[in-house]
Amino acid sequence: MGSFIINGGNRLCGNICVHGAKNSVLPVLAATVLSGERSVIYGCPELTDVDSTIKILRYLGCRIRREGGSIEVDSSGMTGDSIPDVLMREMRSSVIFLGAILARTGRAEMTYPGGCELGPRPIDLHLSALRSMGAEITERGGRMICETVGLKGADIDLSIPSVGATENIMLAATAAEGTTRIFNAAREPEIYDLQQFLNRAGARISGAGGPYIEIEGGAKLHAAEHSIIPDRIVTATYMCAVAAAGGEVLLENVCPRHVATVTSVLREAGCRIGETGDRLHISSERRLNAVHPVRTMPYPGFPTDAQSPVMAVMATADGATVFIENIFENRYRHVGELMRMGADIRTEGRVAVVFGVPRLHGAEVEATDLRGGAALIIAALGAEGRTVIRRAKHIERGYEQIEKALGGIGADIEFQEG
Ligand code: EPZ
Repeated sequence: MGSFIINGGNRLCGNICVHGAKNSVLPVLAATVLSGERSVIYGCPELTDVDSTIKILRYLGCRIRREGGSIEVDSSGMTGDSIPDVLMREMRSSVIFLGAILARTGRAEMTYPGGCELGPRPIDLHLSALRSMGAEITERGGRMICETVGLKGADIDLSIPSVGATENIMLAATAAEGTTRIFNAAREPEIYDLQQFLNRAGARISGAGGPYIEIEGGAKLHAAEHSIIPDRIVTATYMCAVAAAGGEVLLENVCPRHVATVTSVLREAGCRIGETGDRLHISSERRLNAVHPVRTMPYPGFPTDAQSPVMAVMATADGATVFIENIFENRYRHVGELMRMGADIRTEGRVAVVFGVPRLHGAEVEATDLRGGAALIIAALGAEGRTVIRRAKHIERGYEQIEKALGGIGADIEFQEG
């Protein structure tokens, strides 16, 4: 499991180069099974979720070569169409393989990805969309078996702009006969990145990044190379670290537009933030003030994944900040852990009210999930004294060597095995 040990109070100064986006590299790696050829993906972060994805690709029969941030996937030898439960449980977003395997082989078998720390993670939108494209989906003993004699293009209206459902539909639609049109598609930058990779591989997709995506099916896909976009949530996390601990940091390999809603909240709180090209400069020299209510929304609204990092900042702001979590049912599990550090927070369903206190104090806490764990690191950096954050494996899923990145700008942080 491992723990992070942090002695708070150091100002953060220096540069961090942000790594590639976890939520882009996962669907793009899944998409490499479509061509049956050799694709190379650059800018892949070293994360346990990427390791899990590679295990699935190997299990399916793909050959993988990994050199630093580059991952080469040769899916010509792919023979499998099913993912065992042990691999499905390693990473909830394995469901993204459903559309890709179905498109490649006409059959896909896997267990339901099940819930996670954020609450139930239904996949009803994924399944109803694939059924409308001609997939027969049956369930036997907790495993779902999807089969098709041939996928057909369809018009799909998503009741929720689901990121995963949008991605699964795009992947399946590349092999469908005819055109698939997605209405109310998710608009996250990672969807656009997936479109870019697929079109480089010969697909004919347009509209990603907007609410309407059109996929002309039937093209034979081929090998492609692609560089992953920067991780906007990692960017937001490091911005929050500076906001909470104080200091002045330059973040490189950033898409400022992708974090615009987080930037405006931290500016309102009193941070100074400048943007030039793919670099973002943030400084925080005084106690921050509370901000207007923070409502999480689908992109381009305020990202749910940045809710807990920003909450950790507001825990010591002057005044009270209201958070409304509109995306996930159970995304306040980090609140109890922040309160162990002296935070004063009240939650009621989807609403949390954070009453800023002058300073947090170190404590023994536990990471409850990926972004909740990141929030604890942020809180510990500004807290007085020593904090031990157990269950660090949650954090390693989405942050590449976070202790090295933060240590490099002056944080007193170390990782401890066991
Ligand atoms: C993706 O999850 C991200 N994960 C999440 O990031 C992110 O928080 C989320 O999108 C929202 O932006 C990856 O990309 C790997 P959704 P996903 O389908 O696709 C409901 C992180 O920390 N829903 O957009 O699972 C669902 O319950 C992770 O990096 C259905 O009801 O999210 C949720 O309330 C956490 N039925 C809402 O929609 C469905 O069939 C949004 O979920 C699908 C989703």
